[in-house]
Amino acid sequence: MVKIAPSILSADFSKLGDEIKEVETSVDYIHVDVMDGHFVPNITIGPLIVDAVRPLTDLPLDVHLMIENPENYISAFAKAGADIISVHQETCPHLHRVIQQIKNEGVKAGVVINPSTPVQAIEPILQDIDLVLVMTVNPGFGGQKFIQSGVGKIEELNRLREMNGFTYEIEVDGGVNEETIKTCVDAGADVLVAGSAIFNQSDRQAAVQKLRNSL
Ligand code: DX5
Ligand code: ZN
Repeated sequence: MVKIAPSILSADFSKLGDEIKEVETSVDYIHVDVMDGHFVPNITIGPLIVDAVRPLTDLPLDVHLMIENPENYISAFAKAGADIISVHQETCPHLHRVIQQIKNEGVKAGVVINPSTPVQAIEPILQDIDLVLVMTVNPGFGGQKFIQSGVGKIEELNRLREMNGFTYEIEVDGGVNEETIKTCVDAGADVLVAGSAIFNQSDRQAAVQKLRNSL
């Protein structure tokens, strides 16, 4: 059974609690997009929002850090209640150290790769991580078009996992909708992030069901 992770980036922030309640019973993670206006050209939310969301749901909070120097904020996000913290390979020259830092906080550790970053860039640390997030859009905004070349990377990560007995989940983020979800799952994806495909629809439960029915 694949996991669905709605991205609250496309939700109505003035009633975030209601938005989460609406999807809670039909999804698996809540995906939280943190952007700093440096690594990506947009600014979103910080640990305060994670802290505010934490008591609203028992679902794992899947925090996607699109920020420079993520090592400076890991402790704050962990204390705020993140269950999974993912950092971009492109922001971490000392990726192994950052992964250990996340794990030392008692949080699951994920690594994200941009559309232009090959799987090879993270091969040496695949054995150490709980999740790999494959970006299928350039990070920064919701509602962008799915970049097809991510599918080959999902297949490659799936193959490496089977060959080596690794245990990471493969998550896909960006442009996931009724048209693109099946290709990702067939390639080996376990967790599908969806922002606009869920929160831009008036009936969110039906939107989640449509995604599942597209498989
Ligand atoms: C993009 C974010 C995504 C985004 C996905 O930078 O990381 O999580 O919210 O939105 P959709 O599903 O609309 O592409
Ligand atoms: Zn994201």
